[in-house]
Amino acid sequence: MPGDDPLGREYPGGEERGATECCAERAGDADGPSIYQEFWRDARGEMERRDYAKALATIGGLTALGSLAAPLVSLTRVFEREYTGPVYSDGVALVDAEGEQIAEDRLAPGEQLTVFPASHPGIERAPTLLVRFEEGEYGGETRAEFTVGGYAAFSKVCTHAGCMVADRDGTTLVCPCHSGRFDALSGATVVGGPPPRALPQLPITLSSDGYLVATGDFEGPVGPGGG
Ligand code: FES
Repeated sequence: MPGDDPLGREYPGGEERGATECCAERAGDADGPSIYQEFWRDARGEMERRDYAKALATIGGLTALGSLAAPLVSLTRVFEREYTGPVYSDGVALVDAEGEQIAEDRLAPGEQLTVFPASHPGIERAPTLLVRFEEGEYGGETRAEFTVGGYAAFSKVCTHAGCMVADRDGTTLVCPCHSGRFDALSGATVVGGPPPRALPQLPITLSSDGYLVATGDFEGPVGPGGG
């Protein structure tokens, strides 16, 4: 139930699980992990994947899973859900969990990183998945004009029930809560599981001094609802 959510957020029901089941799981009753456990698992999983990616790179693996920064500061807050204005706007820099801007060479193809909008009034942190692939790999529903240098950015908040999309399966972004799957090479369109719509893509470009910045807000609503 929405009132049970520790952050006061509401989660609409999904196609496979009802609202009560989703929210009870996030609230941490006997049937599922608490929201804090879930965020810790998310962060821990990213750290583990970072190590795994390094190992893959060492052995010449083709599907490195990325140098992922753990958004520890955001574990208890996804973003200001009460805030209804733009999350990003033209010129807002993308930053990592430490607040460092993202230089053009930060990621290699196949890697990903959780980033956030540089702080500005009305919004503190909105987890965003930054991925990088070879430019020619993108297709399908990708908004090519929203990408730059092989980078594409999507909201990390699952459109099903608001979990963090923290896992990877090759080029597929995977939500651990109900196995929602999104194609990173095709605009994060849904390719499996209950999410009702794609993760909204963020238009990005490189600033004159070589850092990733947004050129506007997400192309659609962040998180559940709004579809
Ligand atoms: S929250 Fe259900 S698949 Fe992501």
